Amino acid sequence: AHGPSVFPDGGTRPYYRPRRLRRTPALRRFTAETRIGPANLVQPLFLREGLSEPREIPSMPGVFQHTRDSLRKAAVEAVDKGVGALMLFGIPEHKDPRGSGALDPEGVLQVALRDVSAEVGDATVVIGDINLDEYTDHGHTGVLDANGDVDNDASIELYARVAVVQAEAGAQVVAPSGMMDGQVRRIREALDAAGHQSVAILGYSAKYASHFYGPFRDAVESTLRGDRKTYQQHPGNIRESLREVELDVAEGADMVMVKPALAYLDIVRLIADQVQVPVAAYQVSGEYAMVEAAAAKGWIDRDQIVRESLAAIHRAGATQVITYWAAEFADSLDR
Ligand code: PBG
Repeated sequence: AHGPSVFPDGGTRPYYRPRRLRRTPALRRFTAETRIGPANLVQPLFLREGLSEPREIPSMPGVFQHTRDSLRKAAVEAVDKGVGALMLFGIPEHKDPRGSGALDPEGVLQVALRDVSAEVGDATVVIGDINLDEYTDHGHTGVLDANGDVDNDASIELYARVAVVQAEAGAQVVAPSGMMDGQVRRIREALDAAGHQSVAILGYSAKYASHFYGPFRDAVESTLRGDRKTYQQHPGNIRESLREVELDVAEGADMVMVKPALAYLDIVRLIADQVQVPVAAYQVSGEYAMVEAAAAKGWIDRDQIVRESLAAIHRAGATQVITYWAAEFADSLDR
């Protein structure tokens, strides 16, 4: 109701013309408010123990379980494209109740961290995911108590040991994804006690109990039955995320993450406006699979949708975006 009339002369011709700044590609580029670059992207990579050939993940076409060789190649390729960081996951050949593969210095993720660090460690940021769910036969991200519930305090003791083992294998950043209370603090203490003060923590702080993780569970051969609703967050909640982020920062998280991304951009924005640490968002497997599936049917323009979704996540306030498309799109984000 206030402000100048759009038609100050009483006529019918617009006086204000926002389209002036959209007229040419050069003007649009010049006036762009946000721009995501390759250095903001994080490429997740999977090493599968005991594999002789890379294996494509059926629900994630174009994403592979790697052998040691193909992992090194994928890492080099991503770095050559300017990708800012690599986030590594391991899939062990054998799972057990305590997830011992996660703690083993020779375990699959530690092998991946060492190989990738040796190959490209100076040129990018190497991140290890801390959890037990790829390593436990029951598929939960911690050890279970007598009732079959995840034992929070026993699990974070294990995470603390996993963090040290990963740091020793070359992780520059560790990313605890288990959503156990107190995990960041316990991991920080353990890293410091082991002389790894410089290893940073990226908290999966606002991690929702999401069905968008479905294809990832194929990727890591998850054996989970049931769900993670006692530790991951309710999709309808907001304050819960703010609380988790507040706790993680207080416990020593150097960066925080919101996950999934596209369905939770309101959370990204709120957190980005409130915290004084970098905010990352994880464009998860289900987000990837939906776009790939629709594109395979010829129903959407895949490349434009990928770039648009990355731009949207960045615009919402995520400085870093973890995405399975990182390497492929790093050098064409501006188109
Ligand atoms: C935990 C973890 C998960 C993802 C990343 N780390 C799965 C889960 O919490 O069930 C999901 C990533 C994705 O869906 O792309 N290991």
